[in-house]
Amino acid sequence: MLTEVTANRYITPLREGGSLPGLVEADGGRGTFGTYVMKFTGAGQGRKTLVAEVICGTLARRLGLRVPRLVGIRLDPVLGLGEPDSEVQDLLKSSGGLNLGMEYLPGAIGFDSLAYRVDPFEAGRVVWFDALVGNVDRSWRNPNLLVWRGDLWLIDHGATMIWHHNWPAAGAAAARPYDASDHALAPFGPDIATAAAELAPRVTEELLTEVVADVPDEWLTGEAGFGSADEVRRAYVSALLPRAASVHERITLGAPAEHPRPPAPGWFTSGASSPNASARKGEAA
Ligand SMILES: Nc1ncnc2c1ncn2[C@@H]1O[C@H](COP(=O)(O)OP(=O)(O)OP(=O)(O)O)[C@@H](O)[C@H]1O
Ligand SMILES: [Mg+2]
Repeated sequence: MLTEVTANRYITPLREGGSLPGLVEADGGRGTFGTYVMKFTGAGQGRKTLVAEVICGTLARRLGLRVPRLVGIRLDPVLGLGEPDSEVQDLLKSSGGLNLGMEYLPGAIGFDSLAYRVDPFEAGRVVWFDALVGNVDRSWRNPNLLVWRGDLWLIDHGATMIWHHNWPAAGAAAARPYDASDHALAPFGPDIATAAAELAPRVTEELLTEVVADVPDEWLTGEAGFGSADEVRRAYVSALLPRAASVHERITLGAPAEHPRPPAPGWFTSGASSPNASARKGEAA
């Protein structure tokens, strides 16, 4: 079960996120008071995005990858009444009940492959995990990786497990290969074989069953073709379990030279001083 907290203050929207996640202050007793990144059930992406966040975020954490701790956030839509931005107000009003929260990492910065090196073992674990869950949202264009206190953290697992959008064809979809040529960590020579040898044996039916138990019933009930929330949970286990054993054989990485890198900022390549340095010069002038 996800720890549950209650939102008591909406702080600000995180404008970078397509789903308009927000920062909230929430509390559920027992040391849970704090600031959380909140993803809303009323967002256009729908509740399956939140299911994917819980399953992948929890699984990654159980495998030892760094993902901010997840919680369920109870929201009283009344909180939206004082919100001046009408888009945010609509989101809050349509998200009464249980939403997803993750611990806010204050001061975290977006991953930049020019500024931060990742060793091949860590890169391998992340690429293998993304292949397991079919993550299409960790490209160099939008890495969904943060650097916090010197470490790499994984966020945003909403665009994974594409098979849950069409359950009758899920078996075939879950058997598909994973193209990692565009992956944000592809340039770091990911050691997939070592990652698979370490992680695949740990993805057991028992572990997956514990992980899917964390998804709140209210995000699973009413799924077409299923009689209960537990039936949907079992479908997630059935898709992930066989994939864990063999997905490493179906990961495409491409040659290292082919990996696109994000364009370096002009001040970096032109030999000019950094924007901060220019600003400081400007100040001095
Ligand atoms: N736990 C966190 N701590 C600090 N900042 C975070 C955290 N989670 C998200 N962010 C910030 O919020 C932004 C949006 O988060 P996220 O990528 O999860 O949202 P999204 O709406 O799913 O995004 P996308 O536009 O990629 O679909 C991130 O790029 C990051 O800057
Ligand atoms: Mg994102």
